[in-house]
Amino acid sequence: MCGIVGGICQNNITPILIDGLKRLEYRGYDSAGLVVLTSDNVLQRTRATGRVANLENILNLQEINGTTGIAHTRWATHGEPSTKNAHPHICNNNIGVVHNGIIENFLQLKSQQQAQGYRFSSDTDTEVIAHSIHQALKECNTLLEAVQKAITDFQGAYSVGVISPTYPKHIVVARSGSPLVIGLSDKGNFIASDQLALINITKQFIFLKEGDTADITEDSVDIFDKNGVKVEREVKTSKLQNGQIAKGNYAHYMQKEIFEQPQAISNTLESRVTKDKVLVSAFGHKAKDLFSKVKHVQIIACGTSYNAGLVAKYWIEDIAKIPTHVEVASEYRYRNPVILDDTLFVSISQSGETADTLEALRAVKKRNKNIQSLVICNSAESSLIRESKLSFLTYAGPEIGVASTKAFTTQLVSLALLCVALGKCHKQVSKQQEKAIVDGLNHLPGLVAKTLNQENQIIALAKTFEDKYNALFLGRGSMHAIAMEGALKLKEISYIHAEAYPAGELKHGPIALIDKNTPVIAIAPNNELLDKLKSNLQEVKSRGSQMIVFEDEASKVVPMQGMSVIPVTNNLGRITAPIIFTIPLQLLSYHVALIKGNDVDHPRNLAKSVTVE
Ligand code: F6R
Repeated sequence: MCGIVGGICQNNITPILIDGLKRLEYRGYDSAGLVVLTSDNVLQRTRATGRVANLENILNLQEINGTTGIAHTRWATHGEPSTKNAHPHICNNNIGVVHNGIIENFLQLKSQQQAQGYRFSSDTDTEVIAHSIHQALKECNTLLEAVQKAITDFQGAYSVGVISPTYPKHIVVARSGSPLVIGLSDKGNFIASDQLALINITKQFIFLKEGDTADITEDSVDIFDKNGVKVEREVKTSKLQNGQIAKGNYAHYMQKEIFEQPQAISNTLESRVTKDKVLVSAFGHKAKDLFSKVKHVQIIACGTSYNAGLVAKYWIEDIAKIPTHVEVASEYRYRNPVILDDTLFVSISQSGETADTLEALRAVKKRNKNIQSLVICNSAESSLIRESKLSFLTYAGPEIGVASTKAFTTQLVSLALLCVALGKCHKQVSKQQEKAIVDGLNHLPGLVAKTLNQENQIIALAKTFEDKYNALFLGRGSMHAIAMEGALKLKEISYIHAEAYPAGELKHGPIALIDKNTPVIAIAPNNELLDKLKSNLQEVKSRGSQMIVFEDEASKVVPMQGMSVIPVTNNLGRITAPIIFTIPLQLLSYHVALIKGNDVDHPRNLAKSVTVE
């Protein structure tokens, strides 16, 4: 959470900082700020609450110029969103700090520092970093040494960028538990939480490793590992294109990303399937051997990625016949789970930086050094990719909209491939079955495009949500997980309270919630549970609620009064159906949020990448 950008260059750094912050807003947008070393060698800071545009407006009236600077966009953890809590934090006009992460022992450090005479001007944990470095500088000869000394006191997670007028031509950074990249160019050197922030300036990046510190000047980068030993880190050329992160003709990133799904799914499938086969080697050259030995699958993830994992459980148990458990990472990491021998530990993450998911993987690796881990991830250079034995990229392209859309459907496609790969290695999938599944997957981009064409019908339905405060989503089997994803999307961007239930569970309590003001959205694929679902729909309808049923044409749900039945597809299989039924639910929540007048790409209280606990 929170985004950092900084740099030392030949020209004024401020426009680069503002552009970088805008690209990092997906990480938080409670407040933003920057500090620059001016030509008089003083730290000049500006901060504003809310979006980066507010900071930019202030800077338009009151310019700040300098060649060295650091900036931050915040997602509040310690201290309310306010100007005084916005970063950068400064100690005694001599240390400027931006920080992403949480210093867990900040209260203890704060009372020690108060006893030493340091005054606090914010409620943040970050301010202790500025004071610690200031204190350490008294005993050190360089800013780098002071940062290296100070961080030995910190518990928790951090990536920090530090500047000081005492060392005007330097930025010092440290990384532990939160991401940080260094961007290299012939016009200067830069830092950021994500390469996205700098892609306009450079394609050359160094991805710092856990525990690394670095001393950066305009034309040099010296990196030190967690033991303080000078190291070389590989310089990688980013494949990201600047255009990939532009909104183009779309009103919102979320809308763009919903409509990118046919292409994103094609990209996920490319080189991973032939016309009738899943290539097991797409999971790594050791995958065949490893998958053949797997007796259990444990999936962990958060939010939307967790919902993808729930769908995969149905698929893997049904098709590959391997027992599969799914759990939210924030719970899994703190309990003592029984890890059976020959478990494949699968983490799913769009960003690859979600703190809970990463820590769950680390906890499992600590308990069982031989655990086989696989990550399904959208971010090639992420921590989860680096720390997992096997990785499988979803190739959705950058997802900027806070509400996850194309990441989810490409995760499902990746998990479908995993399911078939496991099933093949366990001799549970016949050639014929494999061909049928691959055929279905290869048709997906076209089917998704067709479903997207139903947008106008969904806009009409969305209008009926204008005055609603609650909604219920129903599905059975894997469609319960899709219903959960539909409810999550509606909650997070339209702020309508939404719950998802397996339709058969309704009569055990939740049916009490149903009245004419609570719309019920049901998913009706044509499968073995269809008749049971139809009975559940009758139970709901007789309580007078407004209903929307997204059905397979072959399901032939008979519309009743107050019920809209929308066929979204025809005769889909168990793998393709959950993916297709996701599309109308994404469009529905997008249009309901628009009708409610919400900021779709920046829903309140949220951030895209949750890199803190
Ligand atoms: C919901 C959403 C979140 C993320 C969750 C995990 O639309 O985006 O629920 O799915 O924070 O993030 P990743 O997948 O990056 O680990």
